[in-house]
Amino acid sequence: MQVRATFIAPSNIAFIKYWGTKDADRVVPHNPSISMTLRNCVSKCTVSYDSSGTADQIFFRDQTGSLSRAEPSFARPVERHLDQLRRRCGTGGSFVVRTENSFPTGAGIASSASGFAALTLAALKALDSSPKNANEASSLARRSGSGSAARSVLGGYVRWPPSSGDPERVEQLAKASHWDLRDVVAIVDESHKGVSSRAGHERAPTSPRFSPRLKDLPERLTRVADAIRKRDIEKLGEVIETEAIDLHHVAMSSRPPIYYWNAGTLETLWTVRSLRRQGIPVYATIDAGPNVHAICPAEVEPAVNDALAALPTVRRTLRDGVGDGPYETSEHLEAPESPELIEPVEPA
Ligand code: DP6
Repeated sequence: MQVRATFIAPSNIAFIKYWGTKDADRVVPHNPSISMTLRNCVSKCTVSYDSSGTADQIFFRDQTGSLSRAEPSFARPVERHLDQLRRRCGTGGSFVVRTENSFPTGAGIASSASGFAALTLAALKALDSSPKNANEASSLARRSGSGSAARSVLGGYVRWPPSSGDPERVEQLAKASHWDLRDVVAIVDESHKGVSSRAGHERAPTSPRFSPRLKDLPERLTRVADAIRKRDIEKLGEVIETEAIDLHHVAMSSRPPIYYWNAGTLETLWTVRSLRRQGIPVYATIDAGPNVHAICPAEVEPAVNDALAALPTVRRTLRDGVGDGPYETSEHLEAPESPELIEPVEPA
């Protein structure tokens, strides 16, 4: 029997970052994180399940626009995750996965968060085993290895783990409709990041800044949650900018060090500061990559976008904002038409 399901899941931008894993196998973070779920930066994933199939096939739509067999470095984590989902459901069979992102992959815009959230939801639906609630969806999505995927199963403003500290749970601090914040992403480099977040998590405790940051986090988490509740952009912005710089401080002082920034990152950070001096409430945050997320209220987003898009080091901007979370669609990604695209690739 063949069953097909398609989900669209958004990426998210972390206000308080997950950086450092206490238990890499179970994907348990050293610290809680808070993020804003996006609405335009999304992954779409169609999963077909064949209960009598024997081999998974993974297709990815790359920057050229063609949906072709994924490179082993992309396909392997997907296959590992499908194995876990099969085990959970006590089933065999095989999957055909077709996936695409609406934004550059692996450049600090959490493509694995949206990708694994969409894959998890679509595969479980195809297995007729949809998660009972957001906690279950979150827990299964993050077992892919992408901790940030734990947050992408919910819309609005999301904390993982919640104040109980249970990493199997996720909490929506506020719905998207509570506060229409925008995220103008200044793309200063579209290429895949040189050092994975996974390596960053492993190296984080080697930084002399690691423990001091953990000590500062309880207060930062409270301030961010409070600022979201009160829709206070100055209070939020001050914390998220400090937090982002601190995360990169940890990365740059890890052994061996990790430098995600480039000249465009700095130029964008300076511009965000200069916009603030002109009275525009905009604040920067940066995930594990060089691209800068400029967070601001809806009314100043056009001015922020114009200023960042005009910078010589900014290749383009993505205009995004808070969104409602994943959803199912009947518009499936279709199989590639050309036969050479479905020829199996020799194992590396
Ligand atoms: C800096 O292990 O979730 O974005 O799976 O590669 O997206 P990927 O990363 P993950 O670590 C995320 C690190 C971060 C901060 C965050 O999103 O909390």
